[in-house]
Amino acid sequence: MRASAIAHPNVALIKYWGKRETAANLPAVGSLSITLGGLKTETTVEFDSSLSQDILILNGQETPSEQGRLVACLDALRALADESVHARVESRNDFPTGAGLASSASGYAALVKAGAAALGLDSNDAQLLDIARIGSGSAPRSMFGGIVLLQNDDNGTTCEQLLDPADWPLEVIVAVTTEAGKPVTSRDGMEQSRLTSPYYQQWIATHANDLDRGLEFVRNRNFSELAELAEHNCLKMHSVMLTTKPALMYWSPTTVACMHAVVELRSRGVPVFYTIDAGPQLKAICLPEAAQIVSAALENTPGVLRLISGGLGAGAVVVNGPQRVSADA
Ligand code: PMV
Repeated sequence: MRASAIAHPNVALIKYWGKRETAANLPAVGSLSITLGGLKTETTVEFDSSLSQDILILNGQETPSEQGRLVACLDALRALADESVHARVESRNDFPTGAGLASSASGYAALVKAGAAALGLDSNDAQLLDIARIGSGSAPRSMFGGIVLLQNDDNGTTCEQLLDPADWPLEVIVAVTTEAGKPVTSRDGMEQSRLTSPYYQQWIATHANDLDRGLEFVRNRNFSELAELAEHNCLKMHSVMLTTKPALMYWSPTTVACMHAVVELRSRGVPVFYTIDAGPQLKAICLPEAAQIVSAALENTPGVLRLISGGLGAGAVVVNGPQRVSADA
């Protein structure tokens, strides 16, 4: 009863921030993301009858702070498999953890894939998407590769791949500005925003239009329109964060310097735009021919520690252990 899986984090171009229901972890709005091939989580799950509780070893260290979400996901998997054995989960990220690089998205996608395989469940079962969402609202998106859409429906959420990585080759260059974790988690921060930001309702009210336009620009491979829209959507989310009480300022001076560098490049005709999540790292998305010039500009921005680059990645996969895949999936 042991299996391993790999998943990549993802970054939303049209983001979600806020929940419509906290218990089931349902997002208030849909989102459109790209899966980041340059960063990776590898997770091994072993169900072992000698254990008296579930254990998570994250990057070599026991991590009791994640116990609630971990047990909730494992319980849902065990219920599906009609099993009661506890698990030891060992997970490793090759990038900074809990620092706005979606380590929880790749972490819970890999956990669910590996856990399902270890329990002999169908690793393409759509119910796994809902189980991943218990761990992190953006984790279902990391179950797929390329460009991904997550939407609300009456029963919860649906998630699907829109484009394969090869359908629209894009490059992502992450400017790492700190290796440290963030002071306020996304889950706590977005709930505080819902309760206190005077702009929260406007964010929700204007969101469907952003998502519709984002879908259209992806369908038409319209990079320049997508660039303007994605930056605007990102800035709207950060306006809500900044006007939360107490304020959520995830940017550092280096983040802002990188934003200026990207906007300056685009004003000179370089096909690139930025996006930023709940942390100070900046992600630059560009067409492949611009990757070199974008990397050089970010590398020379004072405060940038290092760059992580890559194309769009694949969805979560089982790499070791038993695997059952339904024929029609
Ligand atoms: O559900 P979480 O904790 O993965 O929150 C994701 C929040 C943002 O990254 C800021 C936006 C998004 O849609 O990914």
